Order: sequence, then C-alpha cells, then structure tokens
Amino acid sequence: MIVTIDGPAASGKGTLARRIAAHYKLPHLDTGLLYRAVAAHLLEQKRSLDDAAAAAKAAGELELDRLDRGRLSGAALGEAASRVAAIPEVRAALLKLQQDFSRRPGGAVLDGRDTGTVIAPQAEAKIFVTASPEVRARRRLQDFAERGERVPYEAVLADIKKRDARDAGRSIAPLQAAPDAVLLDTTELDIEAAFRAALSIVEAVRAGRGRS
Ligand code: C5P
Repeated sequence: MIVTIDGPAASGKGTLARRIAAHYKLPHLDTGLLYRAVAAHLLEQKRSLDDAAAAAKAAGELELDRLDRGRLSGAALGEAASRVAAIPEVRAALLKLQQDFSRRPGGAVLDGRDTGTVIAPQAEAKIFVTASPEVRARRRLQDFAERGERVPYEAVLADIKKRDARDAGRSIAPLQAAPDAVLLDTTELDIEAAFRAALSIVEAVRAGRGRS
C-alpha cells in the first residue's frame, strides 16, 4: 500500500506520515528533506540558490540514507528549500529517487507537496492536510523552540505565507490536492485527533480493497 500525505508547511503532514508509517510498519520518506539537502549543499558551497546547474548536480548526488533530519530541519532552510524546489531541473533530478522509494515492495508512506500528484499518482491512500496559517505558525514556533531556535511569531507567519504562495504558484508540481485526495483540516485538531482522522482515512481505503 502506498500512502501519500501532502500539504503546506507545518500542516502536521510530517508527524502524521511518521505515525502512519510506524502503524503499518511501512518505510517513510519526508520528501521535503531532499529539497532542504539541496539548498544546504548550495549554501555550504556559497552558490546562489538560483544556480540551476549546481542545484541539479547536488540533487543528482543525494543519498537517502545520508540525509540528516536534525541538521536540515532549521528555520532558514525551509525558505531556501522552497527556492530550489521551483527549479525544474532539481525536481527532475529527484523524481526517480522518490518514485523508486514509493515502489518498495510492501509499500511506503511519502509526505511533501507533490507526492500524490506527481511522485505516486497511483497511491491507494492520499491525504491532503491543511490548517490555518496562524495555527501552523504557532506549531512551527514550538518546533523551533524545542530545537533551541528563537524566532519571532511574525517572522514565522510571514515565512509560512511566503512559502505557501511560492509553493502553490510555481509552474511545476505546484502544491495542490490530488483530485482523489481526502482533505484533512487539522486547524482544530491536536496531533492525536489528527492521527486518528488520518488513520480512519487509510483504513477506509484498505476496507475498500479487502484489507490487503
Ligand atoms: O516540507 P518542508 O517544509 O520540509 O519542505 C521544504 C520545501 O521543499 C517546501 O517549502 C517546498 O518548496 C519544497 N518541497 C517540494 N516538494 C515536496 C516537498 C517539499 O517542493 N514534495
């Protein structure tokens, strides 16, 4: 079974994807980490984030088992990642890696922006997670505080709105729900309630195909 969970920044999709993957004992890929790793590489090399050739090269050399979530989850890299994610050559270079992951025997859980639309349109269960920008900013602030990063609420909210606009407005693989995705609005839900809602979406799909 392939499960895709897409949605905007800090919608809760990553936490939900991790928990769904653990529940069904499926491998999980946080596809945002790939774009973050490309951006981190360019910044380390002191290259421009608009350098398509350097970004595509970095994307082509990524290795999934060497992605360091702790290092890549910082505030600044989210914005940088959304810039390199708008470069078509970067998306093309990362496509096969993600598609191969989604086709692992037994299935997989992927989360990101285009996993249900571009990476695995054949996925059995697709969830599109949303929440208001203000609630997402508060959650992000909490994550940063836990990492010891102090960022003002207004700056986090502005970053979320800017990234939403860039991710939804780009011409290639824009952030949008697949036509067959189930929408899950987590604005009023805590993580436990959101997990139960996501699980019941996946369970409904499994029931429909004989719980395979
Ligand atoms: O999900 P996360 O915040 O880590 O993603 C960072 C950025 O990577 C997003 O703002 C988006 O621009 C990009 N991204 C993407 N497609 C994906 C996953 C992430 O364009 N499947």
